[in-house]
Amino acid sequence: MRIYSGNYMVLLLAFFLVRMELPSAADIPTYHVGFLSPSPDSAIPAQLAVEWNSAFLVALEVLNSERNSYQLEAVSLNSACDYQEAALASMKLSKKSGLIGVIGPACSGAAISASNTLLSYGIPIVSFAATASVLSSRSLFGNFFRTVYSDTYQASAVAASVVKLNMTNVTLLYTKDYYSFSLAERIGELCGSAITRSELLEPGVNIPIDIKQLETVLNSIERKEIVLLVVQPAVAEQIWKTATDLNMTGYPWWYFGTDGTTAFEPAVAEGKVAERLVVALQGEIGLAPFDGDFSDSSACQKFYTHWKEKSYAGLPATDTNKSRSYVPYLIDTVTLFFEIVDALHGAAIEVNASTILAALNGSGPGSPQFKGCTGVVQLDPDSGSRSVSPNQPAVYNLVSLLQDHWELKGRIENGTFTTLLPLTRPGTFSAAEQDLVTSDSILPSRSENRVLIATITILFTSVVLVAAALLYIHKKRRNAAKVYVELVQESH
Ligand SMILES: *[C@@H]1O[C@H](CO)[C@@H](O)[C@H](O)[C@H]1NC(C)=O
Ligand SMILES: *[C@@H]1O[C@H](CO)[C@@H](O)[C@H](O)[C@H]1NC(C)=O
Ligand SMILES: *[C@@H]1O[C@H](CO)[C@@H](O)[C@H](O)[C@H]1NC(C)=O
Ligand SMILES: *[C@@H]1O[C@H](CO)[C@@H](O)[C@H](O)[C@H]1NC(C)=O
Ligand SMILES: *[C@@H]1O[C@H](CO)[C@@H](O)[C@H](O)[C@H]1NC(C)=O
Ligand SMILES: *[C@@H]1O[C@H](CO)[C@@H](O)[C@H](O)[C@H]1NC(C)=O
Ligand SMILES: *[C@@H]1O[C@H](CO)[C@@H](O)[C@H](O)[C@H]1NC(C)=O
Repeated sequence: MRIYSGNYMVLLLAFFLVRMELPSAADIPTYHVGFLSPSPDSAIPAQLAVEWNSAFLVALEVLNSERNSYQLEAVSLNSACDYQEAALASMKLSKKSGLIGVIGPACSGAAISASNTLLSYGIPIVSFAATASVLSSRSLFGNFFRTVYSDTYQASAVAASVVKLNMTNVTLLYTKDYYSFSLAERIGELCGSAITRSELLEPGVNIPIDIKQLETVLNSIERKEIVLLVVQPAVAEQIWKTATDLNMTGYPWWYFGTDGTTAFEPAVAEGKVAERLVVALQGEIGLAPFDGDFSDSSACQKFYTHWKEKSYAGLPATDTNKSRSYVPYLIDTVTLFFEIVDALHGAAIEVNASTILAALNGSGPGSPQFKGCTGVVQLDPDSGSRSVSPNQPAVYNLVSLLQDHWELKGRIENGTFTTLLPLTRPGTFSAAEQDLVTSDSILPSRSENRVLIATITILFTSVVLVAAALLYIHKKRRNAAKVYVELVQESH
């Protein structure tokens, strides 16, 4: 009897010990989040895809380590920046039971098809880089959200640059993908007569552009003209390779690219091509989205510390020397899901796709508002996009290509320049000709210069960017073409 009761006590003790250890592992819920990841062989430059995949993993690991009442688990599928791939991947994700939402994809065309597919399953999707303005339509994409601003704001920043830098005789190059097409259209409306020519590069959808057509266009451009590139990174690379082959980088006057263009970094292109491009393209300019600051001690620092500790690939440099396009927006997107689940847990509301969607669209509890890597993150229910407010304006940077990075040269808030440093033009113009553009005429008066330089110094130490935008779509499928036409009509 004694022996039995002794054994019983031991068993009881063992049971308690086990119970004490188990809860964190077994008793807390795990929610599944899809990730429509970029792939290095798509319109996204390889180095950027690697960077984004690491950023996603880092954010998930760091935020999970801070939670003991639940965990988020990723279901990652490649979207390849492609309309059909994204639809297929979304279909697969929707079969995953208990999926509470999807993060990505980066490309607008892929985002449009993913949103379409997931809509019928009531699954919300949040992108960190799809910027096409059509995605703001609530009637078409009621389940789509994004932590970035719509390209409506980027178009204003382009228009501001055209005026500020006294650009006339601009030739605009674009392609037939969602990002390029709708951004080019909006820029055309805003810039009026400054844009004297628009050239649609064929075929431009997920396949190399027609080099013969491109050569003809480039050869017809006058020495003093400006070429505005509203294209994805892969197309920008093709244009610049061609221009270099034609010895046409010293002139025309300037190549000026949108965020898709500045997501391409000549320095990380392959071998000999890189060397030639880097030398040829010094001084070319473009726009990049404001990426917040991760090199200070802000809430964002922990992610980069973890990234470094784990030695994951693609760690962005913590200075102004390297691109990290949309990386902080991706971290903020992952944080957004954790913030919503925290809120739902706090309110004892079941966490599922429907309650997450209600939080995102503002119809249910848990609507997020938090300080992220890119400032105050809040969504506008009327567009599903990042809210613009007095303390969170849509900010873009004017960047210029140096030896191995795009360097910050100016900042545009709400379509108005707040700072601009003198720019050095690329190419073979004389100093006198350079003065046309780099003189004080584009800068505030001398007395304001000190403030400007001080401000820019702060900016330099805090930020750099280069963006990625990318985006694309295929008109290969009929229904895709139909949606496309509807969207273009709607945007008029
Ligand atoms: C812009 O350029 C035109 C012609 O090149 C010149 O007449 C005009 O003064 C310039 N404007 C500014 C603000 O520099
Ligand atoms: C634009 O280019 C055309 C042809 O090259 C030229 O005749 C015209 O003067 C230019 N306009 C401006 C404002 O530079
Ligand atoms: C390229 O153009 C520059 C002048 O714009 C000229 O000096 C140089 O010789 C040209 N190079 C080739 C390979 O044509
Ligand atoms: C950027 O790189 C250059 C050369 O690689 C280096 O001299 C400079 O210190 C770097 N800038 C910063 C802010 O680290
Ligand atoms: C999600 O949770 C809400 C709130 O508890 C519930 O009404 C709804 O039926 C759930 N949806 C699914 C698909 O489980
Ligand atoms: C917001 O999401 C909920 C489902 O979670 C849905 O019932 C509601 O219609 C949505 N509201 C809007 C305005 O889209
Ligand atoms: C930017 O625009 C928003 C919305 O129109 C406005 O609330 C904010 O004050 C503006 N910010 C700046 C810096 O102009």
